[in-house]
Amino acid sequence: MKKLKIGIIGAGSISSLHMDAYANNNEVELYAICDMNVERAQEKADKYGIPHVYSNVQELLANPEVEAVSICTWNNTHAEFSIAAVNAGKHVLCEKPLCQTVEQALEVQSAVQSSGKVFQVGFVRRYGNTTQMLRRFIDAGDLGEIYYAKASYLRRLGNPGGWFSDSKRSGGGPLIDLGVHVIDLCWYLMGKPKVQSVKGNTYRKLGNRANVQHLSFYQAADYDATQNDVEDLANALICFENGASIMVDVSFTLHGIKNDGTISIYGTKGGAQVEPELQIATEKHDMMLNLLPQADTLTFDFVAGFQNEINHFVRCCLGTDETLSPVEDGVEIMKILCAVYESAKTGKEVRFD
Ligand SMILES: NC(=O)c1ccc[n+]([C@@H]2O[C@H](COP(=O)([O-])OP(=O)(O)OC[C@H]3O[C@@H](n4cnc5c(N)ncnc54)[C@H](O)[C@@H]3O)[C@@H](O)[C@H]2O)c1
Repeated sequence: MKKLKIGIIGAGSISSLHMDAYANNNEVELYAICDMNVERAQEKADKYGIPHVYSNVQELLANPEVEAVSICTWNNTHAEFSIAAVNAGKHVLCEKPLCQTVEQALEVQSAVQSSGKVFQVGFVRRYGNTTQMLRRFIDAGDLGEIYYAKASYLRRLGNPGGWFSDSKRSGGGPLIDLGVHVIDLCWYLMGKPKVQSVKGNTYRKLGNRANVQHLSFYQAADYDATQNDVEDLANALICFENGASIMVDVSFTLHGIKNDGTISIYGTKGGAQVEPELQIATEKHDMMLNLLPQADTLTFDFVAGFQNEINHFVRCCLGTDETLSPVEDGVEIMKILCAVYESAKTGKEVRFD
């Protein structure tokens, strides 16, 4: 059977999760890889047995054998590489965030629409097992109308440094890096209502806390603590045309007692805690019930999430599925993220009506 030939663009940390998942998928062949740090690309090529190695994206895209690509480079490259890839006739799985601005997002959308290629945004949490378990309840109407969601993703010491904290390359700090996941997950579970207004705040009070000793934390592949011009905390109230709302706060650094990752959604018939562990709240026979699903894992499993995301992308490329996270959703999330930054800058609510 002919296998779908995959190109990997960007050979840093997250690319390993993509390549592990492709390697487990019998319908694809890891065929090409590219990174401007070509030694890094070569190292990964050796590990995964990838025959074609490039230091330049255009060269990878010019290879007519490559049919689909994963874009795993810094955020400032996502729009340019996405447009170039679909124009070169490749299907694309682009890591989150879709890009850095709404203008770029609309340009990507228009290129995707005229190319007719599959384009999937890497909103990996949509593909988590627990998300899909919860969707069964939501789709069956068990939660009723979901009118509120609350998400906190607070790291007290978790600025990855390097490009993540250089706004030119990242587009922002914890909001665009972590907020993108949790806002998208809430929005997706709420049925993707149309955004009406956003009021947000960002704070740059603590810096990256690179001075802290005795406590380890995740660092980017090219860690550099000297570059840090992004917010260390962001919060927002996002309101939708149907009256629903999301309250969110996310941080890279904060004087917190511990890290906090909680996501909950609330509906007229039931609610759910999505993180740290899936539980469903409901009412029956005049009693409040907390339902604890019996499953191997009740929390977001990264490896399974990426495997599901990539298996789904491959099925979409082969024409047997339609993507669960299309470019249009990437555009809507960029509108929300950029509105939080704009509102924080002006001190005013951003309205979309
Ligand atoms: N879905 C998730 O949970 C998740 C988690 C982490 C990162 N990400 C996303 O994945 C992307 C990469 O993050 P990472 O943590 O792997 O970063 P990283 O720094 O570890 O890797 C990025 C790689 O891209 C390469 N690169 C950058 N610009 C390039 C260019 N113009 N041409 C060729 N190569 C280039 C760098 O040399 C580097 O090796 C980001 O968009 C990030 O937001 C997603």
